Amino acid sequence: DRQPIIAIDGPAGAGKSTVARQVATELGLVYLDSGAMYRAITWLVLQKGIAIDDECAIAELANQCKIQLIPSEDLQSPVRVWINDIDVTQAIRSIEVTSNVSAIAAQNAVRQALVEQQHSWGKKGGLVAEGRDIGTHVFPDAELKIFLTASVSERARRRQQDFNKQGQPEVSLEQLERDIAERDWKDSTRKVSPLQKAADAIEVKTDGLNVSEVTAQIVNHYQQRL
Ligand code: C5P
Repeated sequence: DRQPIIAIDGPAGAGKSTVARQVATELGLVYLDSGAMYRAITWLVLQKGIAIDDECAIAELANQCKIQLIPSEDLQSPVRVWINDIDVTQAIRSIEVTSNVSAIAAQNAVRQALVEQQHSWGKKGGLVAEGRDIGTHVFPDAELKIFLTASVSERARRRQQDFNKQGQPEVSLEQLERDIAERDWKDSTRKVSPLQKAADAIEVKTDGLNVSEVTAQIVNHYQQRL
């Protein structure tokens, strides 16, 4: 018998992380950022100089690595991420990791290894898990499934604000839109667990809504389900 699980999936930049953390805080649930796991593996692959298409070497890495995720109390600060005891909290948000993560997340062995870790987080439930395949594949029996979307231009605008806040170099909106559209395409056309709205997911479009409005909608859906 486990506690409820909320699955939040959607494309890059729809606001999943911020909203999922907020929902977890309001409902007293644990927050799981599955994308951070794929990013951490990607960082390790790049750091070790392993070729992105060397599926064997990457599979071995994925099966042996230790990933730790610790959300900080402060909702403004990012979730702290370690891989093999190295703090990669900042490094996994770099442009280099972001542009390579989809290719690595498309590899079957990587997904198997990370989904196994996600299942161990979900054993007792009491979880808000966020990603691309949580409702369709990782926790298909989640009590509430949300598919969070926003237009490409809205998502590019939000990414640019994030970069500005982090003091990262300026990237043009056109460039960000291209990157987002490309990642959407890669994530939704891959063979293994593509990004898809689960049949029983509720779609929430976030254009023009702020974080607390979206959070309130999800909390509302959750309370109706229980
Ligand atoms: O959510 P975030 O942008 O951090 O995810 C980074 C990448 O990790 C995604 O673009 C996708 O390729 C991959 N991912 C995935 N399955 C998940 C979460 C993330 O394939 N459940």
